[in-house]
Amino acid sequence: MDEAQTPINLWGKRLVLGVTGSIAAYKAVGLLRVLAREGAAVSVVMTQAAMKFVTPLTFEVLSGRRVATDLFESHEEMIHLAVPEQAHAIIVAPATANFLAKAALGLADDLLSTMLLNARCPVIVAPAMDGDMWTHSTVVQHVQALRARGIVVLDPEVGPLASGQVAQGRLPAESKILDAIHAALVPQRDWQGQRVLVSAGPTQEPIDPVRFISNRSSGKMGYAIAEAARNRGAEVILVAGPTSLTPPSGVTTVSVNTASEMSDALNRHFPSSTVLIMAAAVADFRPKMPVGQKLKKQGKSELVLELEATPDILAMLSARRTSQIVVGFAAETEQVLSHAKDKLRGKGLDLIIANNVAQTGGGFGSDDNAVVVLSATGGQKTLGLMPKRRLADEILTAVRELCFISSRRESLVE
Ligand code: CTP
Repeated sequence: MDEAQTPINLWGKRLVLGVTGSIAAYKAVGLLRVLAREGAAVSVVMTQAAMKFVTPLTFEVLSGRRVATDLFESHEEMIHLAVPEQAHAIIVAPATANFLAKAALGLADDLLSTMLLNARCPVIVAPAMDGDMWTHSTVVQHVQALRARGIVVLDPEVGPLASGQVAQGRLPAESKILDAIHAALVPQRDWQGQRVLVSAGPTQEPIDPVRFISNRSSGKMGYAIAEAARNRGAEVILVAGPTSLTPPSGVTTVSVNTASEMSDALNRHFPSSTVLIMAAAVADFRPKMPVGQKLKKQGKSELVLELEATPDILAMLSARRTSQIVVGFAAETEQVLSHAKDKLRGKGLDLIIANNVAQTGGGFGSDDNAVVVLSATGGQKTLGLMPKRRLADEILTAVRELCFISSRRESLVE
């Protein structure tokens, strides 16, 4: 494509381009030029082996930035933390088998691998290596592990390699790498036309005017889904229990406190919605008789609270639906998949997101999460530990794949 015609798609995006020690390292120079032309600010990080193939100066001139090569070099900031924290995406091209192994195992013995461990943004990896290395069982396992963690590992291309062999091992074409970057960064409008009702956060069930029963939900997952759906073109209504999060712009947020208020708000908006995503952690029980005045101790050594069940909002809405797609969450601490399947069937849902809230690194309050998406038609997709914002997008993609695209009505309710 002519330079003048190149669309400015990555304007304002901060990218890290990691270059590792493959003969294909020279191709990263062309990639850097295209990224810069699209308006991205690119920081290049090279491994020691990469510098045997191309000099940092080449990247420095083209990026207009100093090339980082050394974890122990002194910088004004903690470069291994600051750069990935600020980056919109990290692209590793070319990625050697050695790099894939380090990334899969979480080793951090140089600047690039350490940055990867601090990444909270999409990571795209474009491997290049000899054909026998790419098909080696160890490399295959490492690629699987990285993909399960949500890292985009592109397939190398088939063609003549440096060894003279014709096999799968060539760095993916620049256009393929660019497509992956665009897919990760330039919002798709694939939810345009959908009216999405999302619930988020906990509910608070009053005991008296100053005390309540609640749970540890932070609301982060539901808010992230609302934002992701908005970014992808949907009209979004967010019904949110009490959280410390800022209402997202461009989303109609309805604040509620109790399960009963959440039920009212969702019932009001459900008929005009096309999709319900019930991420809220609704209290299952509430005090039967909340009192109007603060309960006094009055010398009591114990207090028995009588609780009653709250309505199951999701089951009620699912039973009332006309053509809406209904998605629930299952917060579990054990037998996650089997409990989630029971809820999927029992509540008559199209899809359930099975969430192990006891897992390390994920669950309530955390910025990260890992889930398994199960559909009523038997579909299943595992989404490995990743930031909730990213997971939200993956969940929306799974809803599209499992509900909009595949046939969905036949086996909904048993
Ligand atoms: N849910 C709901 N109304 C309730 C309780 C739960 O709408 N009173 C919804 C949640 O928003 C979630 C799904 O039902 O989407 C499953 O919630 P979860 O807490 O995992 O399970 P429960 O159905 O409450 O069952 P249990 O607590 O026994 O696991």
